[in-house]
Amino acid sequence: GWKLSSFLERSCAEIRARVGGERVILGLSGGVDSSVTAALLHRAIGDRLHCLFVDNGLLRQGERETVRHLFGEEMGFALHVVDAAPRFLAKLRGVSDPERKRKIIGREFILVFEEAAGKLGPVRYLAQGTLYPDCIESAAAGHGRPAVIKSHHNVGGLPKRMKMRLVEPLRLLFKDEVRELGELLGLPREILFRHPFPGPGLAVRCLAPITPENLALLRAADAIVVEEIRRAGLYEEVWQAFAVLLPARSVGVMGDARTYELTAAVRVVQSVDGMTADWARLPGEVLSRISNRIIQEVRGINRVVYDISSKPPATIEWE
Ligand code: XMP
Repeated sequence: GWKLSSFLERSCAEIRARVGGERVILGLSGGVDSSVTAALLHRAIGDRLHCLFVDNGLLRQGERETVRHLFGEEMGFALHVVDAAPRFLAKLRGVSDPERKRKIIGREFILVFEEAAGKLGPVRYLAQGTLYPDCIESAAAGHGRPAVIKSHHNVGGLPKRMKMRLVEPLRLLFKDEVRELGELLGLPREILFRHPFPGPGLAVRCLAPITPENLALLRAADAIVVEEIRRAGLYEEVWQAFAVLLPARSVGVMGDARTYELTAAVRVVQSVDGMTADWARLPGEVLSRISNRIIQEVRGINRVVYDISSKPPATIEWE
């Protein structure tokens, strides 16, 4: 509404006043918050905004291409895509402990980001898509998972080490206002209503060894889950919908042959804020299509199970 269009005007003026003729760098993940932050800064300072997209090898199917196409080509942002997949995967080889995965990925992200930013020459400002609830949560940090989540999610540690000044234009907004602002800025619904995706990406959804082969299986299964949920018109009705690759092998039959392959778990949950969640009562036909397609199309997975755990006591992610 008019309130947000005047916020947009004011915010652009504030950003220009703050950064003057300087350049600003932003880690663009393609999620709601970083995308809207990018669009707002681009409106304010154009090409002086430099977006860094890090491909850590743990992204979902088509994610890198979507970001490159939308932000690099259609919206014309100064976008730098960093292919860091081999680095991340080398560091994760043989690692199965969830918190170690998170630590490794968080640390590597900072190194990759610093290196890529260094190539742009001196940049004094770092933009972040911090929202109002993030500020509250950080203030209350120190007990348990939310603080840990935020440390990766919001690129914690970067500003201090890089001696950059922070630009956080969304810090007074709630999620629904961010979406509305994004719409004003011309971002498509597919970005603004995207499901949350954890910073450590597919690493915390791959319980089987993290190898390029297993990640390819997980990506293919995950894409089928999301596609069928969309096709059923349920994407915006659920909080998250994704696949998890389990290290369990089981026996199956395919034609005349015996198979002995991995298992995919399908996780679809409803939630208001991610703090509590319930498994989605999907129609049987949707579950059936997801299962049939994964087993038929993804060679290497011969069994699909549906996760019927609620949070608490289970978490939404498996790791
Ligand atoms: P859990 O699994 O704790 O997840 O029920 C709650 C919400 O947080 C997301 N999540 C993460 N996000 N880094 C993130 O940026 C993380 O390490 C992480 N772990 C969980 C999860 O997808 C869900 O939306």
